[in-house]
Amino acid sequence: MKNLTIAVDGPAGSGKSTISKKIARELDIIYIDTGAMYRALTLKLLKNNINIHDKKELYKILQSTSIDFRNNHIFLDGKNVDEEIRDNQISTNVSDVAKIKEVREKLVEIQRDIARNKSVIMDGRDIGSFVLPNANYKFYITASIEERGYRRYKELKGKGYNVNLDAIIEEIRERDRIDSTREFSPLVKCADAIEIDTTDKTIEEVVVHILEIVNRGGK
Ligand code: CDP
Repeated sequence: MKNLTIAVDGPAGSGKSTISKKIARELDIIYIDTGAMYRALTLKLLKNNINIHDKKELYKILQSTSIDFRNNHIFLDGKNVDEEIRDNQISTNVSDVAKIKEVREKLVEIQRDIARNKSVIMDGRDIGSFVLPNANYKFYITASIEERGYRRYKELKGKGYNVNLDAIIEEIRERDRIDSTREFSPLVKCADAIEIDTTDKTIEEVVVHILEIVNRGGK
């Protein structure tokens, strides 16, 4: 059977990863969270005090870093970093790392490698436009900035973090700005992507909607 590829893009906190994870389970295909890869690399750069503007230093660290998924868990140099990459310090720095051309080249290569000869649902910012331009289905998942901020606020609160809603909305706004204005593969809605606004929808409703589209073979 031919491989099924589903590309899911959208701004921060739109619900992409929760939705993609559920769809992967329903369709029994692999889920790849590309944002987690950019976060893992950011973690390594911060831990090693790397100056991201020093190309030589950055290149050296890119060469000696391994990022991969094992059973839906993200591994940085062989160590599970699922929790560490969600830290707020990573969120505030990740977009500046993700705009670097060399960083994108390295991670996109890994992403395409994972997707080769496999059925996958991959989420990120440039999946439909750049990583998997021939994906069978492309979705653009969005929601109002207030709703996206509130969702992230609830999530972090639930994990016991002491967070401020306005500060989170500002962080998301800034990340969206950097992600959509960067030079290399910015966040865009592809012309052939189906847009879903999740502001007033539950995760379940969106999952059902996407599954309907995929199961009937198109719009
Ligand atoms: O989960 P959340 O919406 O907060 O973001 P994420 O998917 O974990 O992605 C974190 C950051 O990685 C984004 O804000 C982008 O700067 C970057 N990213 C990217 O540039 N390209 C991707 N394909 C995925 C993420």
